[in-house]
Amino acid sequence: IAFDDPTPPKKRNPRAVDVLITEAQIQDRVRELGRQIEADYHGKPLTIVAVLTGSLIFLADLIRQIELPHRVALLQASSYRGATTSAGVLNVNEAFLPEVSDRDVLLLDDILDTGHTLATLVGRMSMQGARSIRTAVLLRKIGRQEVHLEPDYCGFIIPDAFVIGYGLDYNDDYRHLPYVGILTP
Ligand code: XMP
Repeated sequence: IAFDDPTPPKKRNPRAVDVLITEAQIQDRVRELGRQIEADYHGKPLTIVAVLTGSLIFLADLIRQIELPHRVALLQASSYRGATTSAGVLNVNEAFLPEVSDRDVLLLDDILDTGHTLATLVGRMSMQGARSIRTAVLLRKIGRQEVHLEPDYCGFIIPDAFVIGYGLDYNDDYRHLPYVGILTP
């Protein structure tokens, strides 16, 4: 089909990226995390709850490394810092969250930064009657955490820089990159 659209396609990767963690390093580490999770959840009713949108690629790769029956659930969480809401208040959309009561929940996020997102979500899952709650992050930023939360599974510890790729975005771009990188100025 020929489309008569005069708008040229938006260029992907408008800015150069310094690679911080390569595709091979991520794949190796995700495989290791999968083995760990398999061992820890053997025989348990596991539900992996992924925080959209940044954990999308991590979720897709990780569940293919877990040879255990498990459910996948999604929720969307975002921090609004606008005039109508006080700074850092977390808005949680649980539209795709099935029953987690009496399930062992593994909360999955792309990155642990201040820690507010995961800490708040652990509280929510607990109120919904989860049997146990653990957390998994691909990345943990050093020197930024504001609340106490020790992730049970962590892929990589990274320096305090804004990172993109492997699900993480800048202005809705760069999510598709198979590696994690830092935008060059
Ligand atoms: P908190 O501070 O609640 O934040 O731990 C977690 C959420 O903040 C986003 N975030 C980032 N997103 N590059 C991104 O693309 C980054 O360097 C970054 N640091 C934090 C992310 O959505 C995460 O779920």
